[in-house]
Amino acid sequence: MREFSRNKGLGGMNREEAKVRIEKLREEINEANYYYYVLDSPRLSDAAYDRLMRELQKIEGKFPGLVTPDSPTQRVGAAPLEEFETVTHTVPMLSLNNAFEEEEVREFDQRVKKLLKTDRDIEYVIEPKLDGLAVELVYLDGMFTIGSTRGDGVNGENVTQNLKTIHAIPLQMVKKELKKVPNRLEVRGEVYLGKKEFKELNRRREESGEPLFANPRNAAAGSCRQLDSRVTAQRPLSIFCYGIGAVEGWDFTSHWDILQTLRKRGFKVNQESRLCRNIDEVLEEYTKIKKKRESLGYEIDGTVIKVNRIDLQEKLGTISRSPRWALAYKFEAHQETTVIEDIIVQVGRTGTLTPVAIMKPVRVGGAEVSRATLHNMDEIEKKDIRIGDTVVVQRAGDVIPEVVMAIKEKRTGKEKKFVMPDWCPVCGSEVMREEGEAAHRCLGMSCSAKLKESIKHFASKRAMDIEGLGDKLIDQLVEKGLVKDVADLYSLSKDDLASLERMADKSALNIINALNESKNASLEKVVYALGIRHVGEHLAKVLVDHLGSMEKLTAATEEELTQIREVGPEVATSIRKFFQQKGNLRVIERLAKAGVRFEQPVARKKKDMEGKTFVFTGSLATFTREEAERLVEERGGKASSSVSRKTDYVVTGDTAGSKMDKAKELGVTVLSEKEFRKLLGI
Ligand code: IVH
Repeated sequence: MREFSRNKGLGGMNREEAKVRIEKLREEINEANYYYYVLDSPRLSDAAYDRLMRELQKIEGKFPGLVTPDSPTQRVGAAPLEEFETVTHTVPMLSLNNAFEEEEVREFDQRVKKLLKTDRDIEYVIEPKLDGLAVELVYLDGMFTIGSTRGDGVNGENVTQNLKTIHAIPLQMVKKELKKVPNRLEVRGEVYLGKKEFKELNRRREESGEPLFANPRNAAAGSCRQLDSRVTAQRPLSIFCYGIGAVEGWDFTSHWDILQTLRKRGFKVNQESRLCRNIDEVLEEYTKIKKKRESLGYEIDGTVIKVNRIDLQEKLGTISRSPRWALAYKFEAHQETTVIEDIIVQVGRTGTLTPVAIMKPVRVGGAEVSRATLHNMDEIEKKDIRIGDTVVVQRAGDVIPEVVMAIKEKRTGKEKKFVMPDWCPVCGSEVMREEGEAAHRCLGMSCSAKLKESIKHFASKRAMDIEGLGDKLIDQLVEKGLVKDVADLYSLSKDDLASLERMADKSALNIINALNESKNASLEKVVYALGIRHVGEHLAKVLVDHLGSMEKLTAATEEELTQIREVGPEVATSIRKFFQQKGNLRVIERLAKAGVRFEQPVARKKKDMEGKTFVFTGSLATFTREEAERLVEERGGKASSSVSRKTDYVVTGDTAGSKMDKAKELGVTVLSEKEFRKLLGI
């Protein structure tokens, strides 16, 4: 077919030929659409689809008289409207009675039987209840003509242009090899936005500073009620059709029949819908759908149970705008609204201050919720959440509750903005927020919230290596108030320890011994154990190699610190800040009093390199050149920059060059970095 347009070109095409080609293209595009948007299983590549679409647009551009409202080119949105027209539904769009308990569902079944004066099982259809926007699509002789919102059930808004942009809505019902299309068919369904699509939409809105949608429902409703349908066209909306209004020219005997027919005619019908022989089967299916809830690509808020036979539906009728033949059996809501009564600050294990909303308790997602994390200051500012605000809270599955948004329309003017404290609410130390970071942190070392974590770190194998002082024990020590900072560990008595749960005398004694032993840990381990931000094992060693004592380290200025290679300004600030905290200095003093080593081990200072000359070449992995040279000099050796006959050792890094050749030439011993460390005994 494409040959045709290539050979003759558009110019050579007459109206008749164009009409034939247009028909063919529309058919192919509609079919591709159907597979992609309704069946969710694409048959054409995006490129092939675009090619067909472009060709159709081109021909229609050339022959505007051939453009029809059901052409796939008409899905892109049209010029904005001033306002929506009102559409009166031929048959009112009803609402549903709700049930939350199995008992209520059984009562519904009993009521149906009673009204129908029967003891026999009633057949039902159960369908997922989508959380979106209810719409009606009017098809005249198979062509989508008017689309409207449910509105108040009697009158809705004419949103035809917007609905046309939804690819899952057929502009033309499928006609092929089936019985004649009805003169009039009103199809009803729920327009929705998938979970993934919703997240992506909100992500883009956040990026461009637009207000976020609280949930997919609001996003779908908002998108459908756009006066400019070109905006709607940008939103990846879809629809599930679940029923009909008026119909002329067709007859249905059951609801299941309606669903199957709609599906055959190109409408998207939910795959999870089931025909059940009785209420027990309905309840089984309900459980299955509920289990699937989180894994579905769209939000559902329950199920809808409908009497299957149309004649029975008619007999049952309607009462106060709800059919007596249907029931919404709902799940626990994932979202609720409540009021933020206060915002408090929680200090996490790493010293991060997390603002937490204290809310009027609400049941959401199957649990009572009265607290929700607000993450950090950026988040509060972005969402503009204030104390006193009415907010939407959300809790899906096992996910922790979160405040989705504030409902600004409910503000009274009495709401208060939250301010992050400058001082830690737990220990009173200074709170710092580093540039480019979202979190505020408490700098205090003995902050009880940070305490457990810092003690765990202090006692860990790579730090002070206090055997037997495990996580559970530390938790108990802190909770009982026996330990308020790491220095307190060294004042623990055997009796203190023995008083703890599951602690035998012997184990208590072992821990006291382990604590005493830990006092001999090397200074670099002690520095690492302090848990200064950014100071890991390696940096602790670098600091000790350069400064040699705790005294020098605590006194070092940022300037002095940044002179050490590997210590950047950020690390220097963090170290300085740490030692500026009076609380931290007091802990260090008490550690010293307890006998923890604050000097480099004496062994290091042995003059065992007396008279030896070293030359370093290439870059070393675990030392800077200066550090290596200092180590040698401390032990009485000498570091030189050039290799001569007097050189005893040439230590080579990764890219040793001419010095190594020279060493070999002169027969000087060449050491790898590993061998050098071995020689020093480190
Ligand atoms: S049937 C008389 N089926 O729920 C039948 N409604 O609370 C009325 N809804 O306005 C509708 N999924 O927006 C039906 N599978 C489903 C549904 C469904 C969602 C919505 C619909 C309706 C509301 C009634």
